[in-house]
Amino acid sequence: MATLKAVRGTRDLLPPETALWNHVEATARAVFARYAFGEIRTPLFETTELFARGVGEETDIVSKEMYTWEDRGRAESDKGQSLTLRPENTAGVVRAYIEHRLDESGMLQKLFYIGPQFRRERPQRGRYRQFWQIGAEVLGPAWSGADSALRDAEVLEMLATFLNELGIRGWQLTLNSVGSSTDRPKYIAALREALAPVKTHMCENCQRRAETNPLRVLDCKEPGDQATIDDLPKIADFLDEASRDHFAQVKSALDACGVAYTVNPRLVRGLDYYTRTTFEFTVPASGEAGSGLGTQNALLGGGRYDGLSEMLGGPKAPGIGFAIGEDRLILTLQAQAEAAAEKKLDAFIAPIGLAQNAAALVLAQELRRTGLAVEVGDGTFRLKKSFEAADKLARRMVLVGEDEVTSGILTVKDFTAGEQTKVARSDLAEALRR
Ligand code: HAM
Repeated sequence: MATLKAVRGTRDLLPPETALWNHVEATARAVFARYAFGEIRTPLFETTELFARGVGEETDIVSKEMYTWEDRGRAESDKGQSLTLRPENTAGVVRAYIEHRLDESGMLQKLFYIGPQFRRERPQRGRYRQFWQIGAEVLGPAWSGADSALRDAEVLEMLATFLNELGIRGWQLTLNSVGSSTDRPKYIAALREALAPVKTHMCENCQRRAETNPLRVLDCKEPGDQATIDDLPKIADFLDEASRDHFAQVKSALDACGVAYTVNPRLVRGLDYYTRTTFEFTVPASGEAGSGLGTQNALLGGGRYDGLSEMLGGPKAPGIGFAIGEDRLILTLQAQAEAAAEKKLDAFIAPIGLAQNAAALVLAQELRRTGLAVEVGDGTFRLKKSFEAADKLARRMVLVGEDEVTSGILTVKDFTAGEQTKVARSDLAEALRR
């Protein structure tokens, strides 16, 4: 009999890896508690209409990635209905906010969730059909301050703190403002107009989106379309004064908290409910802080959704939130830990003869002061022993013999390149850094 396997795009999480998942979740709970968030758990499936109305019919998620089925009624009187496994949790949280009349307290609601989401995407590293999100939403009536730029900055600062506490290295925050519900139609009209004469040269997806949802054209990754997209009108030029002010306040609050960011005018994100601030945190795909995630390097995304509650038939309830891809966060932590374990010292300094020990130590002191990581051998070591130790510990070896000390020209052996060069002492730190 054929053995049964987990469904494509889903996976089992086993010990010891599950310990890391628990650590990440415990850290999220601890950090979010300090910012006054409480936990919400909403059902794994909802009516299809919730996502169609909340996330948007034309988005990739709703138009092609949802697990939807007709749920049969159990009795004649019991009507069947279309249900969907949640592809994201913001719509569910806002539905719960409306259903439980959380607006009646007049207080700001700060809710977080941890749980699986489902999207029928093409599986690859960092992209699964069942994946986990750690997310949070801040919403409430306008008089609770839910629309304040302070909330945007607070959420972003919390995310920076969370990633730093977990030890994620090299993360980058990218920000944009997509304007209010009145700015967007103007921008979309301008985009449509600008796309009309050029869209025939663009990819098939862009041609379709130019008609149905021109904002999505900005997400296109097709290399041949990038120059055309860069020439399209920018949303920043269509923001009304209130949205411009709001965005300026978010940025200055982030500056005040020391959270670094870059603004990317193309960051409109793939869900229709966003207004004003949108953001993503990415990690480099490769290098020392590399995530190994390739193109799936968005660790998390989010933004403001001031009109979502009304779109779902609720009261006005501006809000902002985010969702972290927990699978991607874990992959990044693992990749970065591996890179750190493999990391070699910048140099091994090998004194040739006991008489050079002091000179070697002085050279090490000089290099360490510039921030380089250096180990020193010993003048009693035979050259072979120095070589072996250096090869094990460091990327390069620097020989310190009598000649080197008097001439100030040092011999550097590069183990990766397999070559030996002469470097002036004044250029040594720079050469070792390369
Ligand atoms: P999203 O950008 O669709 O936003 O997803 C957020 C994060 O979930 C992504 O940055 C990524 O890390 C992770 N993710 C998405 N799809 C997959 C997948 N197939 N496999 C693995 N990870 C994935 C939202 O879901 C919004 N609800 C975020 C939000 C909350 N906006 C406001 N509040």
